[in-house]
Amino acid sequence: MTEAARDIRATAARTVYLDHGATSWPKPQPVVQAVREAVEFYGGNPGRGAYELALATARLIHDARRTCAALLGVRDPSDLAFVSGATEALNIALKGLLAPGDRVVACSMEHNAVVRPLNVLAAQGVDVVWVDADSTGLMDADEVEAAVRRAPTRAVVCQHASNVTGTIQPVGDLADVAHASGAWMIVDGAQAAGHLDIDVAALGADVYAVSGHKGLLGPQGVGLLCLSEACEPRDLVQGGTGGGASELPTQPTARPDRYEAGTPNTPGIAGAGAAAAFVAEHGHAQHGLERELVARLHEGVLALPGFRVLGSPPREPRVPVLSVVHERVDADQLAFLLDKRYGIAARAGLHCAPAAHRTLGTLATGALRFGIGWGNTAEHVDLAVQALAEAAG
Ligand code: ALA
Repeated sequence: MTEAARDIRATAARTVYLDHGATSWPKPQPVVQAVREAVEFYGGNPGRGAYELALATARLIHDARRTCAALLGVRDPSDLAFVSGATEALNIALKGLLAPGDRVVACSMEHNAVVRPLNVLAAQGVDVVWVDADSTGLMDADEVEAAVRRAPTRAVVCQHASNVTGTIQPVGDLADVAHASGAWMIVDGAQAAGHLDIDVAALGADVYAVSGHKGLLGPQGVGLLCLSEACEPRDLVQGGTGGGASELPTQPTARPDRYEAGTPNTPGIAGAGAAAAFVAEHGHAQHGLERELVARLHEGVLALPGFRVLGSPPREPRVPVLSVVHERVDADQLAFLLDKRYGIAARAGLHCAPAAHRTLGTLATGALRFGIGWGNTAEHVDLAVQALAEAAG
């Protein structure tokens, strides 16, 4: 082990990790093992050779795709492409479906992974219409419907859950609204996958973008682009796809190859497959624990003087992120004190979601966000509440 790894191992051992909204950690052992084995043994380049090592890697990716598709309710695994993350999946969806002159209706709680591509598209002549969430961060399907009906609309885009408030958006209703007007429904599932039971087909999402490394518990560098059968975004990146399509001068249109140009991230995909299998087995129990822990944290914070919590009241449905604001001590200072004095890892600031903070009235202050997930316990939550009380006291 290198000296740097020894140091970080010591830091990791004393960290109370409450930043699962940013990335999940630690990863379950089967995920660690799958990544390690992929690097160590799966040496061949899948689809780029007929020798046994390449075929074995292709089978590994095939199996991972099936496991991820089954977890998310994607009926045909070919409708699920492995990409670098939810950000890439959203860029493919937005830039691959929208063109100058199109109109898109989007929600005011979106992460920069949606806001920034939409701003690029707006500069190119796409009409982007923003609909405000309420003061808890919740979207109203009737307001989205009114916006969609005002003019021909190509797509509706909304997060499944907010990375700031944990609010679970009515994306099934929004999909009905979109489809009634012939629009695509694009869902940012980055904060939902792994924390909620998801059936992409039943939700009616034409695009469902998943981060592999958050609630799904996989490694960084892999995301899932899930498409409905009819939805066919243009590919943004062209290149080799292996298989039998090498003679084509243009990108093949067959899925998932169309969206997977270049050598795949075999270790990341192996990890995502193992993570999906792990979530399929343990997710139900884990979701119940996460709901309990986030409610415990919520109630604990509300009992402290000077604190408020963004979003809905305790025990209303939410994914397990909780953002808090103190009337006097700023969020960065709280995060610093929690880290230095208690070894608690939590994220302060705007969480790459200034639009959400603008909606909530916290653009100037930001917030301190706790993200609960795999490995967290009631002791972690109680320590966080105690630490907040002492840091703000
Ligand atoms: N989008 C991630 C977060 O919310 C990084 O922290």
